[in-house]
Amino acid sequence: MCGIVGAIAQRNVAKILLEGLSRLEYRGYDSSGVAINNEVGVRAHRAVGKVQALKDKFESAPLDGKMGIAHTRWATHGKPTEENAHPHFSGDDLALVHNGIIENHETLRRNLIELGYEFRSQTDTEVIVHLIHNALKTEPDLLQAVKNALKHLHGAFAIAVTLNHENDRLIAARKGSPLVVGVGIEENFVASDQLALLHVTDQFIFLEEGDVVELTRDQITVFDANDQVQERPISVFNHHVDASDKGEFRHYMLKEIYEQPKVIAACLEGRISEDRVLTSSFGADSAFLKDVENIHIVACGTSYHAGMVAKYWIEELANIPCSVEVASEYRYRKVAVPKKSLFLTLSQSGETADTLAAMRMAKGLGYLTTLAICNVPSSTLVRESDLTLLTRAGTEIGVASTKAFTTQLTALLITSIAIAAEKGELSDDKHTALVHALRSLPSYVDAAIKQDSAIKLVSEHFANKHNALFLGRGPMFPIALEGALKLKEISYIHAEAYPAGELKHGPLALVDETMPIITVAPNNQMLDKLKSNLQEVRARGGELFVFGAKETGFAQAEGIHYNEIPWVEEVLEPIVHTIPLQLLSYHVAVVKGTDVDQPRNLAKSVTVE
Ligand code: AGP
Repeated sequence: MCGIVGAIAQRNVAKILLEGLSRLEYRGYDSSGVAINNEVGVRAHRAVGKVQALKDKFESAPLDGKMGIAHTRWATHGKPTEENAHPHFSGDDLALVHNGIIENHETLRRNLIELGYEFRSQTDTEVIVHLIHNALKTEPDLLQAVKNALKHLHGAFAIAVTLNHENDRLIAARKGSPLVVGVGIEENFVASDQLALLHVTDQFIFLEEGDVVELTRDQITVFDANDQVQERPISVFNHHVDASDKGEFRHYMLKEIYEQPKVIAACLEGRISEDRVLTSSFGADSAFLKDVENIHIVACGTSYHAGMVAKYWIEELANIPCSVEVASEYRYRKVAVPKKSLFLTLSQSGETADTLAAMRMAKGLGYLTTLAICNVPSSTLVRESDLTLLTRAGTEIGVASTKAFTTQLTALLITSIAIAAEKGELSDDKHTALVHALRSLPSYVDAAIKQDSAIKLVSEHFANKHNALFLGRGPMFPIALEGALKLKEISYIHAEAYPAGELKHGPLALVDETMPIITVAPNNQMLDKLKSNLQEVRARGGELFVFGAKETGFAQAEGIHYNEIPWVEEVLEPIVHTIPLQLLSYHVAVVKGTDVDQPRNLAKSVTVE
């Protein structure tokens, strides 16, 4: 999704801004631009494609200056062209970058055209810069003009603004889209993501909803939504969790797959004792664990799949009803909330627009409490939820979520066990057995990763495939959905997932010799049922790829490719069986030569609706 970087310094900021944009590349974008403010005025370069194309422009026509704003654009209104790339200008003097969507842009555009403004792009963003320009006609102070203009906007925005002849201050604001201020020495910065500024500072101020900030070289003044000056706390970034280096790995995604044993161990740390899940993991206010009688889980994409697995755990272990819904649907319907319901959100980024909107809506619906299972401690979701359980996966750069998913599952299993125990649904022995299983989880995941070379060989069979079908039963169905999503995202192969028992109700019609069918087959009570479903596929010539546990009785045979996955306790099967599907998608994408870490059309953090 779009990214913002801004800087005001004693030194030339061009390199700082370009490096910031490179650090934002992982979020997904299709064009970029930089505006630099110097004695001559505000000058900009824009380019379609990778940030490297923008850097090339700076090579051939350098722009120097001590203040500037920069942007990576993920197209929403208007194609990815240079004209639509930010910064956008009003006249030659005023430049602006924007993340988010202005919902009333059509009305504003009509009004501004009547006032004589000419539009150079198809973007919703351009209305903001003209509105500020128009406000400057009656209010010459840039800060106040920005505040006045923002009052006309409906929708979500994070912006940074620079004006010619105002070389001493940069104005930025947020509502609905994240923005962070980077604090330096005689220089200050602003960005949509702190990762964009880690090369220049490790001190950050997270702006709140409705904040407007004035940055000078030695001062940061934050005005809240009521226009009151506020002292916001400074947080120091922990560099141990900076993941912006691929190390020995060819792609971030592979690095993140390999990090899973380590980050799952971090997720468990301090949350389980020798034989118990610790209720203190949820903070001082853990009474909800005992009181809860119903759970609504709301999330998007991969996080939604994690929620679907949790439904099986919660209903099985804690014996209370649990429903799971995608946030974009939940937020637009009337929801019936049974008494003592927990509202549980799942999000890697904590900035997903639909999940945030759903959580804000849920706050008015009488839930017992709102709990966020999230990977980013400084995110809006964490700050606005009543309770939080952090997944501690560290920064995830690959657009295709891997370690964020398995740590979400780990946190969800901790939560399910804690609720079951507090509600008296778990015997002591069962509680101990579950905790012992959890303790072994990092080593099981490590053993599954060791299948990497074997899975790489299998991936070659997908080089010329255009479709794939994933099958699973029970909690393996959401794992099949997640496997299909991974394959779609990074290899662009059309993939669908079904509960294996549904096959004969329709999708079997798709099966012929050209259709690969991928399934994860743990050795559990559903195995025989699954095997019958697979027979139905084989009988129609479908090529089977089975990732099965020991003693499932599968073997390599004509039309059957079999990879063995280590045995694990049944409750852990969804987590461990995710690994081969992640590795398969990764290697298929490499075979197909796609952009693994930044797949086309996708963004890491979906901050617009
Ligand atoms: C996963 O591979 C995706 N890139 C995507 O589905 C993601 O999980 C979804 O956008 C939700 O993001 P969040 O977890 O940051 O809320």
